[in-house]
Amino acid sequence: MIPAILKSNLKGLSGEIAVPGDKSISHRSVMFGSIAQGKTAVTNFLPGEDCLSTIACFRKLGVSIEQEGNRVTVAGKGLEGLQEPADILDVGNSGTTIRLLMGILAGRPFHSVLIGDESIAKRPMTRVTAPLSLFGAQINGRNNGEFAPLSVQGRQLAGVTYELPVASAQVKSALLFAGMQAIGETVIIEPMKTRDHTERMIKQFGGEVETDGHTIRIKGGQTLTGAEIHVPGDISSAAFFLAAGAIVPNSEIKLKNVGLNPTRTGIIEVMHQMGAHISIEPYENGSAEPAGDITIRTSDLKGTVIEGELIPRLIDEIPIIALLATQAEGETVIKDAEELKVKETNRIDTVVDELSKLGADIIATEDGMVIRGKSHLSGGTVSSHGDHRIGMMLAVAAAISQGDVQLHQKEAISVSYPSFFEHFDSLIS
Ligand code: S3P
Repeated sequence: MIPAILKSNLKGLSGEIAVPGDKSISHRSVMFGSIAQGKTAVTNFLPGEDCLSTIACFRKLGVSIEQEGNRVTVAGKGLEGLQEPADILDVGNSGTTIRLLMGILAGRPFHSVLIGDESIAKRPMTRVTAPLSLFGAQINGRNNGEFAPLSVQGRQLAGVTYELPVASAQVKSALLFAGMQAIGETVIIEPMKTRDHTERMIKQFGGEVETDGHTIRIKGGQTLTGAEIHVPGDISSAAFFLAAGAIVPNSEIKLKNVGLNPTRTGIIEVMHQMGAHISIEPYENGSAEPAGDITIRTSDLKGTVIEGELIPRLIDEIPIIALLATQAEGETVIKDAEELKVKETNRIDTVVDELSKLGADIIATEDGMVIRGKSHLSGGTVSSHGDHRIGMMLAVAAAISQGDVQLHQKEAISVSYPSFFEHFDSLIS
């Protein structure tokens, strides 16, 4: 395939954009809508490939779902309404779909088979299959349940107490879906706080879940009722324009209706720490997921250290933070981020390799990376490696590169942000 030529050496970005709906919340709106009784109406749904894979899977499970752009209507018939799929369930590139779906299917009285693309086939599933087996679930997969394809024979589950070895909202959410169908109570203990969209949405659908610090409790046998869900803009998508606004000269960008759930706002804290001119106008609408407008201006940045409890709150933003760090004075150290190795790609390797090709001073470490700035990025030929967030980070890197940047596998971006380049072009002054 011929690589795409990206716009480089930009002189300024200005204007307003509303980034598309949050990916994590969009997935969950379809999942909860499908297992609830009655109609669920979703607005500002993200029509990216990952969330469309979730819709396709639930349709195969017998749920009637209408989707037109960013509006979705789900005709839920309750957990009991899900039917044995006649065909395999293909999750495409979506880790959230496969992992959360396992938690739902583990307790349904039928058989199903889950597959995904090349990247999904390499991602670890034992983190979900092992705790689900403690509930009594029967799941098989390649290499003793470690990898997809996975086959699930659903059965009656029993609640467990489980301490998560890794901070993962996907694993926590899968176990909450299992716990909701299990006999008795399920207690999940997180090593660090991770995104809590599942917990918030359970309540939106009339269910009960209790959170006390890092401990989450849920009772089995709950019935959920369809709801109206408005999905805020995805802060993980906004992150690319926050970075672009900070590092492209003469820029000022306003990002409208961005989700500001505190379990996701690590990027804002880090950018403040680095000296970025960010201002936030939160909306006072009392909705389940907080949101607001964010304005960013070109800023002089300085290096920082990112570690510990902050990592799960910005895990998907590390590729773009690495780019920011190349434009910051001094050293930036990212540690405690081994999880990057099991994302859509090994994001320690893909970030370091691709930014090095453009002339950045960046090295990989066992649990993160070290970046020294400020460096002038030259042109070069790079690849997303099929990873949407690497593709978008490289498009922002091109904007400040002096030479031409050619990007292989640009199409990966449609997984989470199909209108990314349209939005980017609308800001070029
Ligand atoms: C997600 C959780 C995170 C994140 C992923 C979406 C979710 O993964 O990286 O993009 O929707 O729950 P982990 O839970 O594996 O950290």
